[in-house]
Amino acid sequence: MSNRLKEIPHLPRKLPFLGHLPGMARDPFGFFDRAAGHGPLVRVRLGPKTACVVNDPALLRHMLVAGRGDFDKGGGVVEAFIKLWGGNGGLAACPNEAHRVARPLMQPAFHPSRIPGYNRQMVRNATEIVGRWRPGQAVDIDREMTRLTTKTLTNSLFTDPVSVRCVDQFQHDLPIISSGLLARTILPAYGRLPLPANRRYREAQARTRSAIDSMIRNRREDPGDYDDLFSLLLVRRPDGTVALSDEEVQGHIWSFMIGGIDTTAALLSWTLSLLVRHPHWYTRVEEEIDTVLDGAPPSHADLARLPQLQRVLTETLRLYPPGWVVSRVARARTALGGYRVPEGAELYFSIRTLLRDPAVYADPDRFDPDRWLEGNCTRAQRAAFLPFGAGARKCIGDVFALAEAASTLAVLLQRWRVQPVAGSRATLKVGVVLHPKGLRLRVIPRTSARALRPAAEDAPCERGQSAGTPHETGHGS
Ligand code: HEM
Repeated sequence: MSNRLKEIPHLPRKLPFLGHLPGMARDPFGFFDRAAGHGPLVRVRLGPKTACVVNDPALLRHMLVAGRGDFDKGGGVVEAFIKLWGGNGGLAACPNEAHRVARPLMQPAFHPSRIPGYNRQMVRNATEIVGRWRPGQAVDIDREMTRLTTKTLTNSLFTDPVSVRCVDQFQHDLPIISSGLLARTILPAYGRLPLPANRRYREAQARTRSAIDSMIRNRREDPGDYDDLFSLLLVRRPDGTVALSDEEVQGHIWSFMIGGIDTTAALLSWTLSLLVRHPHWYTRVEEEIDTVLDGAPPSHADLARLPQLQRVLTETLRLYPPGWVVSRVARARTALGGYRVPEGAELYFSIRTLLRDPAVYADPDRFDPDRWLEGNCTRAQRAAFLPFGAGARKCIGDVFALAEAASTLAVLLQRWRVQPVAGSRATLKVGVVLHPKGLRLRVIPRTSARALRPAAEDAPCERGQSAGTPHETGHGS
């Protein structure tokens, strides 16, 4: 390794013993924003640990894609996941070596040919859930969107009745687990404190572990004829032995429950919150849905014909990326952007900070979906747009999530006009996923809406089509 490598500069203002930990715990966004002002790579002290913050999209891409051999899963978030569900951490947290075996097993469930079928299920779920709302009701949006994404996860990926019950139960434990995870990420010792919040967290963890055990036991005993992700996890080799142990399957199921429910629910909630705050955009999206769909439920192919809705979703992901902090660990002494990175160094990056970088996104706090129009969108904007990560560990559910978000919003906005509730104010809840806490919106039936046409019966799969990925709408990673 070249000895002309530079030393990573230190972030100033660290306290004795605790370093930057109190600042990070008090204001995680402010901490990462401040680190970004000190160069592409900056060294921080988190209690006894020295870590690095990556602030440059090019370095980040290198770390996630080309330099993947040097940087593995690791760091606070990943350690908190592994402690939560045990084993080697499941798909979201396992080391690259285990990942190379596990991901190809699961990938067929996310093949583009599967998405139109999932989309029909998403439309059915959205129709059912928004169909229960009453005119004038003030809806707890985040709760309803979580209910919806839970239902979609089970209808699409874990389809047997025992799994449906278990995952459904999990949505009640999810907020406890999600907020406990962030505290454990920042301060691993937090989990050992004798606090009621920790007791609730451990109870939720135990309930979920035992629910997943019963899901696995049930499907091992009675595999049935299911064509879902779960059946891929339980696949047997030609000699009859299982490809993945029960402990590995447990980790993968946790990965999908943590990765697949909260994130898309947050995207949906933030999009609605932004639309009501920007009536001009609300009207544009509503008119587009009315014109393109003419009251019919959206097929997956239709979603690509809703470019304004797609731009709104992209801009929402930029402003409120649900999975906002990601970490890696250097396997060996290595280099990044001309800096020396010691073996074992933990590297953190805040996707949120990158997506609000004023050098890349003009007026970065402004909601401006038209910044993603072909003529307005710069290469730098595209390069920094990483809400789903990049490389081999990129989100496996990215297309699934975008289809769910777009089709749900189309169904919802066809039926209801959504309005703010006087006196109610949503606040940003910082967990491992960012949520608009307390977002309540009033729903008024659309009297002027074009007549809604009933959902069509299942049509054959539209093979090979996919819509709504940032890439396809011309502004993706
Ligand atoms: C808006 C919605 C979503 C966002 C913003 C999001 C974000 C992310 C990000 C940033 C990563 C990469 C983390 C890293 O590099 O360390 C990731 C990985 C992952 N996501 Fe998502 N996600 C979303 C929806 C989903 C859905 C719907 C599912 C499942 C159906 C899912 C399952 C996963 C899994 C299993 C991984 C680990 C992938 C691997 O390492 O191979 N996510 N997600």
